[in-house]
Amino acid sequence: MPLVSMRQLLDEAAKGGYGVGAFNVNDMEQIQAIMGAAKETKSPVIIQASRGARQFAQDKYLFHLILAAAELNPEIPIAMHQDHGNSFETCKSAIDLGYTSVMMDGSLKEDGKTPASFEENVAVTKRVVDFAHERGVTVEGEIGVLGGVEDGHGAGGTGLEHVTDPDQAVEFAELTGVDALAIAIGTSHGAYKFSKKPDGSVLKMDVLIAIHKRLPNTHLVMHGSSSVPKDLQDVINKYGGKLKETWGVPVEEIQLGIRNGVRKINVDTDNRLAMTGAIRKVLWETPEKFDPRDYMKPAREAMQKVVAQRMTQFGQAGHAGDYQAVSITEIAKGYKNGSLSTRPLVAAK
Ligand code: G3H
Ligand code: 13P
Ligand code: ZN
Repeated sequence: MPLVSMRQLLDEAAKGGYGVGAFNVNDMEQIQAIMGAAKETKSPVIIQASRGARQFAQDKYLFHLILAAAELNPEIPIAMHQDHGNSFETCKSAIDLGYTSVMMDGSLKEDGKTPASFEENVAVTKRVVDFAHERGVTVEGEIGVLGGVEDGHGAGGTGLEHVTDPDQAVEFAELTGVDALAIAIGTSHGAYKFSKKPDGSVLKMDVLIAIHKRLPNTHLVMHGSSSVPKDLQDVINKYGGKLKETWGVPVEEIQLGIRNGVRKINVDTDNRLAMTGAIRKVLWETPEKFDPRDYMKPAREAMQKVVAQRMTQFGQAGHAGDYQAVSITEIAKGYKNGSLSTRPLVAAK
């Protein structure tokens, strides 16, 4: 199957009432782990690359590795997505390369650190939407600001400082015409999200539910959705790592989100933990080894296990064969003739 538009993938997820994991990649092994899990669980999938990933792997390597994944797995719908685009130019470069979806994260200024004004966010996101939709490419926007810093990207803080205002979410969706909307409900990027077990009052699920009530047909996106499982932390620390005690987003909260309009769930940290733990174990137990395959194979397997588990928990498992890819050219026509709506349905308060 050719790469699919993320809009098609999320529209299908909405019909089926499930969520789709969006997993970050930087290299071949991570792409193979995701595809192994997608094949194993028969899942459609979103593969996403941050600006840091595109720089680390180099655009062409990453792009062609993902094309190889599509070629080798014709039965799996794959959307290729730019994660946290910081400017029109970043999104344009991904679209020019062949990505089928981009995130314009206008919640932060171009430096990727300073919160932007509502007006700045609307202006840059709308510009990306106009450019992308003409080419059949999906756009995710963000309203509200997540916490934490990843690879220099992020506003820092706990994630509770810029929780999304439901009225602003409605206005933002109306003004920009985004296909998917990332909201801030108290999560943050990275391993250090919460310093105690979230007890149901830590994440602002009430805000998410309020946004979904006002925008019942809008695909919501949860960033910072790693669960940071204790067993993965333990493996790292057992084999010489030094992670401080930490908690992530409980899977049940994500599942509650999925029942309330969340269609895309971003996971990176859990996979990083799984791979690092597996590598540490091999090097600790057999320090004489030096062939990268001796530790990259277990690392890839450990990541595949986590991804497959998330695919099952998010409900995307078993849905790979539900539909055929609509070409990006046809999707572009759909935006133009209005069959793919960019006007959100807004419910009264
Ligand atoms: O947005 C955060 C993702 O985990 C990507 O992180 O910018 O370190 O590649 P990165
Ligand atoms: P985590 O750090 O929780 O995995 O979040 C990843 C993310 O939101 C990527 O955009
Ligand atoms: Zn994110």
